[in-house]
Amino acid sequence: MTDASKSVPFNDIYRTIQGDLDAVENSLKELSSSSNPLIAEINGYLFEKSGKRIRPALLMLSAKLCGYEGRDHIFWSALVEIIHTASLIHDDIVDNSSLRRGQDTVHSRWGANITVLLGDFLYIQSIAMALKTKTYDLIDILADVTAQMIEGELIEYSMSGNVDLAEDVYLEIIDKKTAQLFADSCQIGGRLAGASPADVRRLKDFGLQLGLAFQIVDDLLDYTSDATTLGKPVLSDFREGRVTLPLIHALRLTSGEAREDIIRGYRDRAVDPNAAAKILAAITKTASLDYAFDRATSYVARAKEILAAFPATEHRESLDRIGDLVMRRKK
Ligand code: IPE
Ligand code: IPE
Ligand code: MG
Ligand code: MG
Repeated sequence: MTDASKSVPFNDIYRTIQGDLDAVENSLKELSSSSNPLIAEINGYLFEKSGKRIRPALLMLSAKLCGYEGRDHIFWSALVEIIHTASLIHDDIVDNSSLRRGQDTVHSRWGANITVLLGDFLYIQSIAMALKTKTYDLIDILADVTAQMIEGELIEYSMSGNVDLAEDVYLEIIDKKTAQLFADSCQIGGRLAGASPADVRRLKDFGLQLGLAFQIVDDLLDYTSDATTLGKPVLSDFREGRVTLPLIHALRLTSGEAREDIIRGYRDRAVDPNAAAKILAAITKTASLDYAFDRATSYVARAKEILAAFPATEHRESLDRIGDLVMRRKK
């Protein structure tokens, strides 16, 4: 079991797929090996310290929920995890972040130039490896979701510092940068199993709702957690000028001088040592953390409703419990 999943009860939920997840770890090591010493060194660093592996777990459980008994899910799970990893190393450059999974980010060790190139390499290599299978429907999904994730990151970055960010634009950002890969991990699992188009649609929608909740919780943890628990810096969205759901809600509920105060705190964050405390006080006053938590809870409830259309198996139970864990996770 990975150290990241030990501290949260993922290992319990992953019980039925543990052998397959171990196979994904081997596949990741194999797929990321390289005759180029620099690529081999950085990939070794990247894939040694594992995260929660939630996307591979979703893909596998979705496949098994639909009766899949083959072995190809290992390969496809490794690919979605590689794409996720590429997005993280680019994201950490964009977000000026020094810590990921409790260790230095790749760009703080090797510099941004090398890290951009390695991220590009991982993205395109994933698609190249997928192409070898000639399973064009799945390759199409992977290529499409990769582009969407990058577009989501682009929109988010271009909206930085925009205190007028509307909730629907925030939702579009988290849909593209995070939820689509959750949706497509589930979708690929269903397609591998040869599930009906209706079941594939359901799985995709289940993943989408779960992914939206996951990112909202991530944005909450940025305000409420600490770097040791999270393995990445906190108040990072705030520091980088990202406007996430709690702040959007607080600004909506506040007017006049109080609203101007929040905006001033936000704009002065680099020079005002009390800025973060002011913002936290403002979002607490408007119960905006509760609001965001409730929104995430609704997405998980919707995901569970969709899941209920499938037969009650241990795999459905595991997917259902991942929903609970998305809300309860500490990292
Ligand atoms: C981090 O994803 C990026 C977001 C979408 C918030 P995870 O929280 O799944 O990261 P790891 O893989 O467990 O480190
Ligand atoms: C990460 O978004 C989403 C992607 C990498 C596509 P964030 O920037 O919000 O995630 P963390 O907090 O760095 O993991
Ligand atoms: Mg980030
Ligand atoms: Mg980011």
